[in-house]
Amino acid sequence: MEAQSGSFFARNEFLIRRLHSLTGLVPVGAFMCVHLITNSSTLGGAEMFQKNVDLIHSLGPALPAVEWAFIFLPLIFHAVVGVWIIRSGESNYFTYNYVSNFRWWMQRVTAWIALFFILYHVFHMHGWFHTEWWLKNVANENTGGHLFKPEHATSSAAIALASPFKKLLYVVGVTACVFHLANGLWTLGITWGIWTSPAAQRRANYLCAAFGVGLLAVGLGSIVGVSKTNVAEAEAFENAQLETKAAAAKRAAELLKKESAKAVTPTATATKK
Ligand code: HEM
Repeated sequence: MEAQSGSFFARNEFLIRRLHSLTGLVPVGAFMCVHLITNSSTLGGAEMFQKNVDLIHSLGPALPAVEWAFIFLPLIFHAVVGVWIIRSGESNYFTYNYVSNFRWWMQRVTAWIALFFILYHVFHMHGWFHTEWWLKNVANENTGGHLFKPEHATSSAAIALASPFKKLLYVVGVTACVFHLANGLWTLGITWGIWTSPAAQRRANYLCAAFGVGLLAVGLGSIVGVSKTNVAEAEAFENAQLETKAAAAKRAAELLKKESAKAVTPTATATKK
C-alpha cells in the first residue's frame, strides 16, 4: 500500500529518474552536440554555415514535427523532472565542501542557468511558435524574438548577436549547458552502472572533462564565428544564392510546363482525328 501513496512522481520515481537520465543523453545531449557543431561552422564562413542550415531545413514542413518530437518535448520532460529533483533534494555543499558535493551543487546551478538560457535562446532565434498570429504579435523584431532567418542564416545570426551583452549572455549560457552535459555524463555513468568502482570513476572524470573542454571549444567557437561575420558580405552571398535558387526553380517550372504540353499534344491530336 505504501507504494500507492504519495504523488505520481513519488510512486514512479525509479522509472521517471531513468527516463530523465536517458533524455539528458539522447535526444537532448546528442542534439546539443550536433547543434553546437553546426553553429561552429560559422567559423568556415557564410557559405559553409548556409549549406548546413539548408540541409536541416530541407526537411521542409516536417521540420516542426521533428523539432517538437525530438528536441522540445524531451527537453521539457527533462527540465520539469529536473526542477522536481532539485526541489526535492538538499545540498550538503556548505557542510562538507568536497569536490563531488561542489559538482552536485553545480549540476543544479547549471540546470537553472540552462533552463532560463534555453527559454530565452529559443525565443530569441526561433520564436517558440511559428503561427502567423504569434509571429505578428509576440515573436518579432520589436520584442527581439524569431530573429534567425534560415535563408539568411549567417547574417541574421550575426545581427541577432551583435550586442556585447547578448554575446556575454550566450557565453554564460553555452558554458553552463556544456558543464551540465559533461558533468551529467559522469553521473549518468553511475546511474546506469557504467563506472562503478572508484578507479573507474576517476578515469571517467578525465573522459568527461576532456569531452566538456572539447565541446566548450566548439560552443564558444560558434560565438566567435558569428562575431567575426561581416554582415554585408554574408548578406551579399545569401542574396546571390537566393537568386540562383529562384532562377533554377523558374527554369525547372518552365521545363515541366514544356514536358507536360508535349505529353498532352498527341492525345489532343488523336481526339481531333
Ligand atoms: C542543455 C540541456 C540539457 C542537457 C543536455 C542535460 C543533460 C543532462 C544529463 C546528461 C544529466 C545526467 C543524468 C544522470 O545523472 O543520470 C542531467 C542531469 C540533470 N539535469 Fe539536465 N540537461 C539539460 C537541461 C536541464 C534543465 C533545463 C534542467 C532543469 C532546470 C535540468 C536538470 C537536471 C538535474 C537536476 C540533473 C541531476 C539529476 C540527478 O542528480 O539525479 N537539466 N542533465
